[in-house]
Amino acid sequence: MLHNLELAPFVDPMPLPPVVSPGAQGRLYIAMHEVHAKLHRDVPPTRLWAYKTIGSIDQNGLAPIIEARSGHALQVEWINQLPAHHFLPIDYSLHGCGHDIPEVRACVHLHGSKTPPESDGYPEDWYAPGKSRVCTYPLKQEAATLWYHDHAMGLNRLNTYAGLFGMTIVRDEAEAALGLPSGKYEVPLILFDRNFTADGQLFYPSSPDPEHPWVSEFEGDAILINNKIRPHFEVEPRLYRFRLLNTANSRFFQLSLSNNHSFHQIGSDQGLLSAPLPMKHLLLAPAERADLLIDFSTLSGQKIHLVHGALPILEFRVGSGPSAVMHSIPSALRPIERIPASHATLTRTITLDEAVDHIGNSMQMYLDKKRWHAPTTEFPKLGSTEIWEFVNLTDDVHPLHLHMVRFQVLDRRLFDVFAYRNNRGLHYLGAALPLEPNEMGWKDVVQCPPEIVTRIIVTFDGYPGKYLYHCHVLEHEANDMMRPFEVVA
Ligand code: C2O
Ligand code: CU
Repeated sequence: MLHNLELAPFVDPMPLPPVVSPGAQGRLYIAMHEVHAKLHRDVPPTRLWAYKTIGSIDQNGLAPIIEARSGHALQVEWINQLPAHHFLPIDYSLHGCGHDIPEVRACVHLHGSKTPPESDGYPEDWYAPGKSRVCTYPLKQEAATLWYHDHAMGLNRLNTYAGLFGMTIVRDEAEAALGLPSGKYEVPLILFDRNFTADGQLFYPSSPDPEHPWVSEFEGDAILINNKIRPHFEVEPRLYRFRLLNTANSRFFQLSLSNNHSFHQIGSDQGLLSAPLPMKHLLLAPAERADLLIDFSTLSGQKIHLVHGALPILEFRVGSGPSAVMHSIPSALRPIERIPASHATLTRTITLDEAVDHIGNSMQMYLDKKRWHAPTTEFPKLGSTEIWEFVNLTDDVHPLHLHMVRFQVLDRRLFDVFAYRNNRGLHYLGAALPLEPNEMGWKDVVQCPPEIVTRIIVTFDGYPGKYLYHCHVLEHEANDMMRPFEVVA
């Protein structure tokens, strides 16, 4: 194995993904293919599976950022040009896997988009190498940072680990009117972790049981940003906007800036917050996004780090020119009306649970004590508002995600797990805990901590049909923390 700390940090400049927009022809052609990319100066090229625009070359294996406009339909033909064999350890005992279907399958989901079911990337709607799918995204939604990633049944944790993810930016007039830093001052930061073998290849851990290689979660040894291990990035002494996205399978990022420097969070999963929030720490769960403003204007000629825990993961090298005109931070961003709990016509109580073996190893995870293939039990009515309360009976934080909708986090409350497990009902141990201020905007992922009931309120605006919700720890989702729901007209 190769060790992150043995690799010189900040030797590579951080690359930026190519940007594509549908333009006049309206359709993008994006292929999944195998590449060998240099992820660090001292690491040999690594085999990755990546998305790329047909006809383009990108040595970094970085998927294009799709630039789209709110209300302008986006059409993408997703073309599976992957090899016929997988290079990561498939667990044939997992849902949707088996020896009787193609070994490599793909299916693309545009995470955070409000999309009709036929284009949403239902996990069972996969296609094999040589095949493609045309998906239409109406994007009748507000400006936000979305992302696309693989969602093929039983494989997506491996396909995503192999590199199949990319960012999508939806823009709208209201956001453009704010005059936030743009062009080269608006920068994507796609964060994830990986393990590498000594020869620089991706290593995905397996359990000791060859029949069930699934592992319940793991953290990769090396941290990458935009496909480089701990890179550096040159900035001017001025204000920047950074769009952060955590594409890790199971790692949560605990982010801060060196020297206790503060920053502002201006957006979360589903776009802008109501006002910029001054912050010093940011916890970003898998699949969550955070839109940040960092002001380098007083740091001319200095180096400052983006830090995860205690580990610096990105070095900003601030140029020594005169600092640019102080670009002011708007005081308000967009009005966010909080949905009162009384608007909900139905509350669904959903447990987060797991089965463990005799020594406490996780064997399987469940939502509502059911597996993926059990019949659908959630049928929200189109346009109706519901509360979903997630009762976490496990020891993990689960980032729960619902397709198609945006929601608001209502509250979190400690409860008596022991009493609940012994059929004595839901007993709260105190009042609701205050939400983090950066959770007051529109979300599509919610962190559900252990021994807590986390409630969200959601209006099922959009399209009728079959969707899903799941934990975004990809190992959990695969076995079997994923359930369908069907929006009924
Ligand atoms: Cu990020 Cu089911 O998705
Ligand atoms: Cu989980």
